[in-house]
Amino acid sequence: MLKILGIDENKCIKCEKCIPSCSVKLFNVIRETNMEKRIEFNDPLRFCFRCGHCIAVCPTEAILYEGADLPYNFKEAKKPSEIISYENLMKLMRSRRSIRIYKEESLSEDLIDQILESMRYSLSASNRQNRRYLVITNRNDIRYLSDQVSKLMVKAKRLLVFKYLAVPFTSGLVRRRLLNPKTKISINRFLEARKRGEDRIFFNAPCVIILHAPPYSKMTASDSAIAISHGMLAAQSLGLGTCWIGFAQEYLWRSKKTRKELGIPKKNNVYGVFIIGHPDIEYLRAPPRREAKVEWKK
Ligand SMILES: Cc1cc2nc3c(=O)[nH]c(=O)nc-3n(C[C@H](O)[C@H](O)[C@H](O)COP(=O)(O)O)c2cc1C
Repeated sequence: MLKILGIDENKCIKCEKCIPSCSVKLFNVIRETNMEKRIEFNDPLRFCFRCGHCIAVCPTEAILYEGADLPYNFKEAKKPSEIISYENLMKLMRSRRSIRIYKEESLSEDLIDQILESMRYSLSASNRQNRRYLVITNRNDIRYLSDQVSKLMVKAKRLLVFKYLAVPFTSGLVRRRLLNPKTKISINRFLEARKRGEDRIFFNAPCVIILHAPPYSKMTASDSAIAISHGMLAAQSLGLGTCWIGFAQEYLWRSKKTRKELGIPKKNNVYGVFIIGHPDIEYLRAPPRREAKVEWKK
């Protein structure tokens, strides 16, 4: 884990840029007796949350640290707006679709690594970066997990008939819609498709990624969602498709047994599941979206 150790006096040019960059104010100007100034890093109460902003802002790489990789240097870091235009970024975001049709082709580890790398750079509450990723590419394991999730559906179908048993899981409206074969969330339709051999959980994707983390606060779910968003956009830039699989997430959240089988530590729970693969569908335009409901207070 990143630990700031101090400042390399030989490199520091005393520009003071580290001072405002630190949100917990751990850098200070010290006046020596000869009135020479020195910048000091002082963290007796361990407030540093390892955001690395001091490392990113220092023009002479004078921040001393341990427990982390080298900073990533690239010339556009200074002006992120020059990396990608708003128009191009919007095109990327607008054309991201949940892909449910995949080619047979498997996914190279290199591509998966590139996606994981994008997720590593996502923001997290208090910079916890506490997520762990379980990458499943073995077809039998994916099938097994899909079967387990489907069994939950069978169980749900049985339980939902009894109104009082279903109460902790769903509202009355959702319960009725799940049981009604004419709705899009009908369990019956899902189970019939399953009988025909269709995988309506993972859509035969060659890779499933499960995000798990200790449930440290309400922010855990937010952190994971953001990481998945990063991964999805990165996947798209690599010509890959993705889809968030809430059904599997819900199942894994509840099933201690399967979490254990998958080697997910006892103290962790599952905050997101998504699939990746080579899409076998091409979209020609972005679908319409609801108007943003915005209130301004000016
Ligand atoms: C939290 C979450 C859970 C989702 N769960 C599923 C799922 O279990 N199965 C599925 O096919 N799609 C799932 N989706 C995908 C949504 O249906 C999809 O994002 C939405 O219909 C909009 O389509 P788009 O992603 O192509 O823009 C999920 C999306 C989110 C954000």
